[in-house]
Amino acid sequence: MNKPIRVLIVGFGVVGQGFFELFHRVKDELGLSNVSISEIVDLKYGHIKDPRPNIIEDIRAGKAIGEKIMSDDIPRIIEESNADIMGEFTWVSVKTRGEPAFTYLSTAIRSGKHVITTNKGPIAFHYDELMELSRRYNRLVRFKGTVMAGTPSFNILKLLPGAHVEYFMGILNGTTNFILSKMYEEGLSFNEALKLAQQLGYAEADPSLDIDGIDAALKVVILSRVIGWRHAFENVEVEGIRDIDIRKYGDKVVKLIAYADRDKAYVKPTPLDKSDVLAHVSRNLNALRLKLDTLGELLIIGPGAGRFETAQAVLTDLVDIINSARSG
Ligand code: HSE
Repeated sequence: MNKPIRVLIVGFGVVGQGFFELFHRVKDELGLSNVSISEIVDLKYGHIKDPRPNIIEDIRAGKAIGEKIMSDDIPRIIEESNADIMGEFTWVSVKTRGEPAFTYLSTAIRSGKHVITTNKGPIAFHYDELMELSRRYNRLVRFKGTVMAGTPSFNILKLLPGAHVEYFMGILNGTTNFILSKMYEEGLSFNEALKLAQQLGYAEADPSLDIDGIDAALKVVILSRVIGWRHAFENVEVEGIRDIDIRKYGDKVVKLIAYADRDKAYVKPTPLDKSDVLAHVSRNLNALRLKLDTLGELLIIGPGAGRFETAQAVLTDLVDIINSARSG
């Protein structure tokens, strides 16, 4: 019999709820009957202990409200929690350089918890500190959901021992790709297409993060750091699509391309030949082309945002942590 593993969720919005639902749907199939979500902390829903599997129905019906909390209470709740793993799914903040999420993650690691996050801020701005805490406290830090949701991205490198990335380029922001596709394919205006992307839930709470290229730049930093390059957010050259005029590109197809190699990193609207597969990656899909010394070019295309799409990333990280902890 495997020993019980408890999971604390911090942030119960789209991603937290999506993970909660997916986890309960597949836990038996994955042999995770010893794993439970033991606590949820959320500013709107409060502090919920031992949530029942049908709590989302209760929340939708306005029923299940936990003990009321203030944001200042969250680090203490994390510290006092007896959970083994914390999932952190709060909003990204660039202005505060990934706070308060970084405080939540560091508090969890210091109090003996492995952590999973889908929040780009703390990983892009505090990568070195988190890796150092991970080593010092012998706890794992996983963040697959920060780049391309559950679609394999940097985690694919684990399957390719000895391969070195020479450069990567791709479409890492679903909202801007959706906007550009709608402008090309249906002749929508920029604002009409943005409104639709917001309605479909692809855009960030503050959509300027998407349209000004900041979300993609955070993802460039995260990918670079995993690969072993030292690009910082401040050094990524960033240009978004706010004022784009697609007619200017003639026969070519303009995409918001994210690129990095060891020496440089940028996000900018880039005209692509129609013969390039990336030119045909449409709607809210993401794509990542990795140039490897062993395999040459590898191209991954898949969803990069959404409720269950991101929940898949969290589940991937959870299973990875449980397997690593078992074998370690
Ligand atoms: N707003 C982001 C996007 C969500 O459109 O790609 C996923 O990081």
